[in-house]
Amino acid sequence: MSGPGKLLEGKKALITGSRRGIGAGIATLFAEHGADVGINDVTRDEEADKTIALVESLGQKASWHQADVGDTDDRTRLLDEFVQQHGRIDILVNNAVASRDMHFTKITEEFWDHLVGHALKGYLFLAQGAATRMIDHGHGGSIINISSVHSFRAWPHDGVYGIVKAGLNRMVQSMAHDLAGTGITANCVAPGYIDSRVLPDHEESSRGDDEYLGGAKSFIPSQRGGLPRDIAGACVFLASELGEYVNGQTITVDGGFLAGGVPPDSMPLEPGMPGAME
Ligand SMILES: NC(=O)c1ccc[n+]([C@@H]2O[C@H](COP(=O)([O-])OP(=O)(O)OC[C@H]3O[C@@H](n4cnc5c(N)ncnc54)[C@H](O)[C@@H]3O)[C@@H](O)[C@H]2O)c1
Repeated sequence: MSGPGKLLEGKKALITGSRRGIGAGIATLFAEHGADVGINDVTRDEEADKTIALVESLGQKASWHQADVGDTDDRTRLLDEFVQQHGRIDILVNNAVASRDMHFTKITEEFWDHLVGHALKGYLFLAQGAATRMIDHGHGGSIINISSVHSFRAWPHDGVYGIVKAGLNRMVQSMAHDLAGTGITANCVAPGYIDSRVLPDHEESSRGDDEYLGGAKSFIPSQRGGLPRDIAGACVFLASELGEYVNGQTITVDGGFLAGGVPPDSMPLEPGMPGAME
């Protein structure tokens, strides 16, 4: 490969919710950088097969782990299976989520329990399980939570999702403290507008284009939608030697979306307004 060379040579990385979308992008870039990867998801389908085949075509081992990160027994089995197959765990990326919007007045306990149980509790206990296994192995490691720009500000109906993502940002601060001296770093990556749609191969070049972005393009200084690979790049950095002094942080990867303050959704930019397209 061209560029900085392989940054994760020999590493063993488990990525949750990685049959498709951002998780698949992380698995693929990790493999390009020399890591063996574990692909986890709730179902195995054509998308999962495609991601596994892609990793293998890059010369790396890909193991498949069907598990629900919201289930206590599944989480333990997932980590045990991964370590059995790879010998150890060096990197965990908590990425899996099925999000839904809900107006504040309509939030039910069931909805709260589901999202918090999967995307906050599930992430915490997977991180704990990975950290204890990394400590036993004695060579440190990297734990990355995929957060969101929704962790920093609100959009309509995003209450529970935003609360969960903000919790992840705070979680890695506590992890950095409590894991001091172990060689384990804990960080979040907060994506902005990322085009994680399933697309046929012949439409891959349209990923993140104007049609996907619509009016949002005028809010994004980088002038394009994000790609799963953009998020994966930040993860590679954090999990590699280059990122080993970054700890307890949340790195925003949004093309500058939040940098200038996002106008409220109710106030679309008109030509001539600051930030509007010419
Ligand atoms: N796409 C974006 O614009 C965007 C923006 C900000 C943050 N994010 C975050 O990035 C991550 C990935 O998002 P995406 O867009 O690739 O989503 P996606 O829906 O394309 O992929 C998520 C994957 O997680 C799997 N999953 C869901 N629940 C699971 C469970 N309980 N156990 C195991 N796997 C499960 C799904 O089956 C799916 O394959 C999420 O944490 C999401 O909140 C995405």
